[in-house]
Amino acid sequence: MNIAIVTGASSGLGAEIVRQLAEGAFGPLDQIWAVSRRAEKTGPLVRPFALDLTDPASFDVLEEALDKTPDARVALLVNNAGFGTFGDFAAMPPEDNANMVRLLMLAPVELTYRALPHMSAGSRILNVSSVAAFMPQPGLATYSAAKRFVLDLSRALDAELGPVGIHVTALCPKFMRTGFLDHAGADDLAARMAGLTGFEDVRRVARLGLRATRAGRALCIPSADMRAFYAAAKLLPYPLVLNLERALMRP
Ligand SMILES: NC(=O)c1ccc[n+]([C@@H]2O[C@H](COP(=O)([O-])OP(=O)(O)OC[C@H]3O[C@@H](n4cnc5c(N)ncnc54)[C@H](OP(=O)(O)O)[C@@H]3O)[C@@H](O)[C@H]2O)c1
Repeated sequence: MNIAIVTGASSGLGAEIVRQLAEGAFGPLDQIWAVSRRAEKTGPLVRPFALDLTDPASFDVLEEALDKTPDARVALLVNNAGFGTFGDFAAMPPEDNANMVRLLMLAPVELTYRALPHMSAGSRILNVSSVAAFMPQPGLATYSAAKRFVLDLSRALDAELGPVGIHVTALCPKFMRTGFLDHAGADDLAARMAGLTGFEDVRRVARLGLRATRAGRALCIPSADMRAFYAAAKLLPYPLVLNLERALMRP
């Protein structure tokens, strides 16, 4: 049985990925496991899992479900669930930094580890990172560091697993109009950052991300301006890029 597991499937990018998978964007699938705290059956292939991925018990639930499914083969794992809180590190709501670490870093690690025994040549992992991963971001310190972790983990795992035919793709979108911006306390800073980079279309990000995943590409940066930013952030000294970014963002 070919299964795709998509976390953060209840809204935004994850919901769009589930929709495109149901339409055949990754080839034939028998089931799509849609994981998020709010979960509902959105189509005949969809098996909803109402789970909070900041709770380690949720990883056991998914592992047990895989073990109990006859001939379960994870064709695709999409680690997408996430939120980001903007603002000064010290002024964050008490739970937010720890929950970002749990959801953005621990959940992909655990789910990858538990899905791998059910994967085989041709299986894929799509990890949703962000352009925030390209350099440390004051005002988004934990989030950007966590997304860097996702980017580096994905690229290392892709090299490690490539020889057995399993590929890992890091997807780095810029701002999209999703629930993410509601949650982020997306007042001044988020609005200015979005004004600086513009928004990209969720459907296009999902389409390009799934295409890159099928092709076994390690990195997908959907927008051209962010591909240029990625190159600049690697070449130029960090203080210079940071000052440039701050100057551009000045109200
Ligand atoms: N939108 C952007 O501007 C942007 C840019 C770059 C990268 N990203 C990344 O894209 C990914 C998808 O975000 P989005 O933009 O689609 O935002 P979104 O619409 O807010 O979707 C986030 C998803 O994550 C799920 N989620 C949140 N906390 C969870 C938890 N504790 N346990 C399980 N599921 C949880 C949410 O479902 P429930 O609330 O039902 O649990 C929801 O389905 C995230 O990793 C985000 O960091 C977003």
